[in-house]
Amino acid sequence: MAGRYQSILETIGNTPLIRLDSVSLEVGAEVFAKIESFNPGLSTKDRAALFMVERAEDEGLLKPGGVVVEASSGNTGMSLAMICAVKGYQCVIAIPSKSSKEKVDQLRALGARVIVCPANVSKDDPRSYYEVARRIAGNTDNAVHLNQYQNQSNPFAHYATTGKEIYEQTEGKLTHFVATAGTGGTLSGTARYLKEKNQNIRTIGVDAEGSILKSYHETGEIDRDELKPYLLEGVGKSYIPGSMHMEYVDHFVQAGDRASARRAKRLARREAIFAGYSSGAAIEGVYQIADQLKKSDVVVTLLPDHGSKYMSKIYNQDWLRENRLAGKKYKPYYQTLLPTTIDRVKLRRLKKWIYLRS
Ligand SMILES: Cc1ncc(COP(=O)(O)O)c(C=O)c1O
Repeated sequence: MAGRYQSILETIGNTPLIRLDSVSLEVGAEVFAKIESFNPGLSTKDRAALFMVERAEDEGLLKPGGVVVEASSGNTGMSLAMICAVKGYQCVIAIPSKSSKEKVDQLRALGARVIVCPANVSKDDPRSYYEVARRIAGNTDNAVHLNQYQNQSNPFAHYATTGKEIYEQTEGKLTHFVATAGTGGTLSGTARYLKEKNQNIRTIGVDAEGSILKSYHETGEIDRDELKPYLLEGVGKSYIPGSMHMEYVDHFVQAGDRASARRAKRLARREAIFAGYSSGAAIEGVYQIADQLKKSDVVVTLLPDHGSKYMSKIYNQDWLRENRLAGKKYKPYYQTLLPTTIDRVKLRRLKKWIYLRS
């Protein structure tokens, strides 16, 4: 019967594609968003997580009562926690400290064990979330480390589902696909399907300012000087994951913390689509290719997760102020230390008074 399911996992995928009126008007092309927060774990990572778990089961790596261990900025973790709850596995997630509190709370709500690790350490540092997940899996009986950064079921999930859905939802008319990249699973898996259908579809990756994905795509080399800390979650990398297949990506752009936050907030107000921080980066990516677009072009951008995961971040004015990301009305902290015009008038009068009395 339509709309009736045996488990929550059957509702993964088949997310809606929605036209963005204001963005279409401003960039001068038809722009649609694939709203991945319609997945039950509120993100696109449900797709990859389900494919990775089912392959581990098929290969006999994951047995009843087993333990799933993963390093995740939060969304893959939430998808795995949900899948483990349904299938009866234990779930352990190592998460970087920059991930939002909401993501940590959601993981715990779904029964996962969460280990918060320092964010700005190198991947090989024993304290990094990658290394912590690897160590725990190695030291735990009946545990499997899914490793989304190398696992080919991650891009394959998007090849088999996301790409096909987008192609069918646009009746094959899309001309551009724009998506953020972290592991690269969403971008390169979807791009591979679309390119196989039509070589002329332009595929554009959105990297974070401070990450090396864009410069690696352009030069074939990792420039460590490009690396700097940034606030965007789930986007960008300091190395090239095995799940990122650059050959299916035509071009990369980079989105900054401020522009991404602004785009996400505008999306909520103008289109009533309440999406996450990286969704703002994806929209920023569309604006960055606006000069390459014609009126007849059909652009699809993928919005990876839901805004509710960022209530303490981009949807919180105090956080925006603390991180110098608030809008124009906001006065930067250093300006509050400078004397105001009234202060300067008082200062001049005081100086004159001292001068006259001396
Ligand atoms: C919020 C968010 N946006 C974008 C991405 C990037 O997706 P992918 O890892 O498929 O490249 C992730 C990945 O975890 C994410 O959590």
